[in-house]
Amino acid sequence: EMPLLEQCYNLLDFEGVAKRVMKKTAWGYYSSAADDEITLRENQTAFQRIWFRPKILVDVSKVDFSTTMLGTKVDIPFYVTATALGKLGHVEGEVVLTRASARHNVIQMIPTLASCSFDEIMDAADADQVQWLQLYVNKDRAITKKIVEHAEKRGCKGLFITVDAPQLGRREKDMRLKFVDEGSNVQKGSGEKTDNSQGAARAISSFIDPGLCWDDIPWFKSITKMPIVLKGVQRVEDVLRAVEVGCAGVVLSNHGGRQLDFARSGIEVLAETMPVLKKMGLEKKIEVYIDGGVRRATDIIKALCLGAKGVGIGRPFLYAMSAYGQEGVERAMQLLKDEMEMNMRLIGARTIEELNEGMVDARGLFQH
Ligand code: FNR
Repeated sequence: EMPLLEQCYNLLDFEGVAKRVMKKTAWGYYSSAADDEITLRENQTAFQRIWFRPKILVDVSKVDFSTTMLGTKVDIPFYVTATALGKLGHVEGEVVLTRASARHNVIQMIPTLASCSFDEIMDAADADQVQWLQLYVNKDRAITKKIVEHAEKRGCKGLFITVDAPQLGRREKDMRLKFVDEGSNVQKGSGEKTDNSQGAARAISSFIDPGLCWDDIPWFKSITKMPIVLKGVQRVEDVLRAVEVGCAGVVLSNHGGRQLDFARSGIEVLAETMPVLKKMGLEKKIEVYIDGGVRRATDIIKALCLGAKGVGIGRPFLYAMSAYGQEGVERAMQLLKDEMEMNMRLIGARTIEELNEGMVDARGLFQH
């Protein structure tokens, strides 16, 4: 009764299958979001307020949508974003995503709260495969320093500091389904007891420092040569500040709707941000990424038209992994590549450089 992998025709199909076959607790953790999940839904609906203005009669016999992200050449402008607790969905955990990413020349962001150890995930990668580290900053900076230095030594090519989670959001679906510890390998504060009554997320996050602030950024720059990217920026003012303190990038993100409910979508914040950066001549100074609700290549194209360097994708790969393992994740990535090729042609763009804001009508984006 489980559909064949070939019967998944797009990324949303994997969600339907995952919901049916996953353990309730795992489904609860992956699919849940904060409070009334308004932001979770908005992440997808925001893309539906953008329409295309395709160019006609462009010779699109050849299209090439390869690009670079933080200096790394990639086949297609998306990366696998960091999502905690991979073993809830698949016995092997995050290494499944690592192997699928290798096949498609896609970058994987490794979560601090991975089920597999950091070294297991690095070891599962091909020699030339690029990975980034997502960092939750520990109250004990000595621990954080060790993690960062180790990641750099092992060859990580980017440090993504999560800045939208001084406290983990309240995900009620997850709480109701009562998390059972699945033997995860996450860094708990030493000797601290985990309290599972608040769901999976809260149980593992007590070490995160709510005191993290702008003054800490120079310290990060002093301990690593990896480019520093702030993940979870939600307003143009903070993008400008990130440029000022010398960040290599920002991810406009609301953590997949899992933190502050009524946070705006990344795509809307992008449309607020890029005109300001351009006006100030700063658009080459920082790479701007978005994540949240990206499910179709048309979503990727919309983001790139509006000035994003790339997009992160979270849940769809978790669902593909949980339902079908590595093959599922590979198919999800292939589907995106197929959609990308077709839609680049249909919009009249041969390369990523040819995508621009004139190819979208985003007037409705700010109308809620
Ligand atoms: C996340 N996300 C996340 N972000 C982060 O910085 N550290 C983390 O540990 C996690 N963990 C996590 C777990 C799960 C199950 C989900 C769904 C998400 C947020 C993630 O990186 C990204 O911002 C969103 O997932 C993007 O939205 P979509 O693609 O899931 O809609």
